[in-house]
Amino acid sequence: MPRAIGKSSVPQLARLHALCFEEAWGEAAIAGLLAMPGVFGFMWGPEAAPEGFVLARLGGGEAEILTICVAPALRRAGTGRLLLQAAAAYALASGADALFLEVAEDNPAALRLYERFGFTSVGIRPAYYARGTSRVAARTLRLDLSPSIALS
Ligand SMILES: CC(C)(COP(=O)(O)OP(=O)(O)OC[C@H]1O[C@@H](n2cnc3c(N)ncnc32)[C@H](O)[C@@H]1OP(=O)(O)O)[C@@H](O)C(=O)NCCC(=O)NCCS
Repeated sequence: MPRAIGKSSVPQLARLHALCFEEAWGEAAIAGLLAMPGVFGFMWGPEAAPEGFVLARLGGGEAEILTICVAPALRRAGTGRLLLQAAAAYALASGADALFLEVAEDNPAALRLYERFGFTSVGIRPAYYARGTSRVAARTLRLDLSPSIALS
């Protein structure tokens, strides 16, 4: 089972984030997010060497994935899906009726993960993410969290 993230995991999560994204969030950024109202997260793997984690935020009856990542060497083993499932279940149990996220159009792995999970595209933000000297659009995706959906 994914475990809830606490403050003590911040240094390990920052290291993992840096392995997974070009624009890494440092320890201060992750600690700052975790201290914000409504922010929650789950991690997978040993406390000392997490294999993946998700951070999300609840607010206004909805929830939003802030980041999700799995260590490069450990992908395609179902961890991303498990983390998404934990975040969606927690958001639903906390009263949210929808889960949103933004994903770059040039990220086929994440797009496929979200599509298979049941997210649908509800908007495009042109030139949202930097890619060197150019930019790429983000898609906004939404998952209906009505209690009838199966999250097991
Ligand atoms: C996106 C990410 C979190 C997926 O994590 P993961 O643990 O590899 O995902 P899972 O093993 O749970 O994959 C579940 C399904 O998603 C799809 N998927 C995942 N990675 C894929 C890939 N590289 N290519 C195609 N489909 C993929 C598949 O349908 C997969 O099911 P399958 O393996 O049975 O075919 C991971 O690739 C990652 O950390 N990427 C870098 C960070 C990132 O881009 N985060 C998302 C930002 S919006």
